[in-house]
Amino acid sequence: MHAIGIDIGGTKIAGAVVDELGGIVRSDRVPTPADPRLLEDAVVAMIEGLRGGDEIGAVGVAAAGFVDAAQSTLYYAPNIDWRNEPLRAKLEARVGGTVVVDNDANAAGWAEFRFGAGRLVSDMVMLTIGTGVGGAIVAGDRLFRGGFGAGAELGHLRVVPDGLACGCGQRGCIEQYGSGRALLRMAGEIADAGGIGQALARARAERGELDGAIVGGLIEAGDPGAVAALRQLGHWLGAAAASLSAVLDPQRFVFGGGVAIAGELLLEPIREAYLEHLPARGYHPEPDFVVAELQNDAGVVGAADLARVWVAEHA
Ligand code: BGC
Ligand code: NA
Ligand code: ZN
Repeated sequence: MHAIGIDIGGTKIAGAVVDELGGIVRSDRVPTPADPRLLEDAVVAMIEGLRGGDEIGAVGVAAAGFVDAAQSTLYYAPNIDWRNEPLRAKLEARVGGTVVVDNDANAAGWAEFRFGAGRLVSDMVMLTIGTGVGGAIVAGDRLFRGGFGAGAELGHLRVVPDGLACGCGQRGCIEQYGSGRALLRMAGEIADAGGIGQALARARAERGELDGAIVGGLIEAGDPGAVAALRQLGHWLGAAAASLSAVLDPQRFVFGGGVAIAGELLLEPIREAYLEHLPARGYHPEPDFVVAELQNDAGVVGAADLARVWVAEHA
């Protein structure tokens, strides 16, 4: 049975009709409206457009926030204006059928586990590096949700006591040191310092501000300042992964989201920092570190599949 997956991110909403093997049958994409009411309208329009005349098993909606155990309500979203948002009820009332809500990183991690970089392991951790830092935990072949549904919020693992303020209301979360936004901040600091930051400083002067496309382009071109910013980011992520290993002992860490396109350039500092911070280093097996295989499609593929799982378990 085909299912629809919708992935609501900070900048874009992606949607697709997905088959049982994780294949995309049809897809769509629009910018995310800032107003929650318009955002809901955009999701409804996308579901109706994708549905066409087909028989659809269920709709899975992945969103960037803390989701409850009933997979219905967004308790909180650090980067979208949702507080106790009953997204499932609202969408079911408007589009009919079963709508299942999930955390965006859980959906991406599930897709990688089922169809991508995690398919050969039983225990994996995924970190998505985008506007925020998302987390997914697969433990013993199952997606870990915690007691109230909102577990695996790995972006809010604290790495710096009294560090930078985070959208979750706390300070020092890895989201502030390992996200795409953090990368731009670090690139800006390197630009300010002169030296290897000259190309970054020039690009910033020409374009008004640094964005992901500029910094990504400079990384690809091997610019030393941009690569140094990426290495800083990787170090923070590697140190966080070492702490996660102490808790979860995964066989594999998967990195997704826009920044993960950098591939080995990102993985190398992650591995270095991981080993530097790993408890009992050298005396137990070590996981491997890879980038996501499904890239931009992971969220929609995972959301669709998790909706199918929900329907199967509640039939
Ligand atoms: C949110 C998570 C989300 C992540 C990636 C974080 O700020 O707390 O729920 O998965 O961003 O979008
Ligand atoms: Na998560
Ligand atoms: Zn936080």
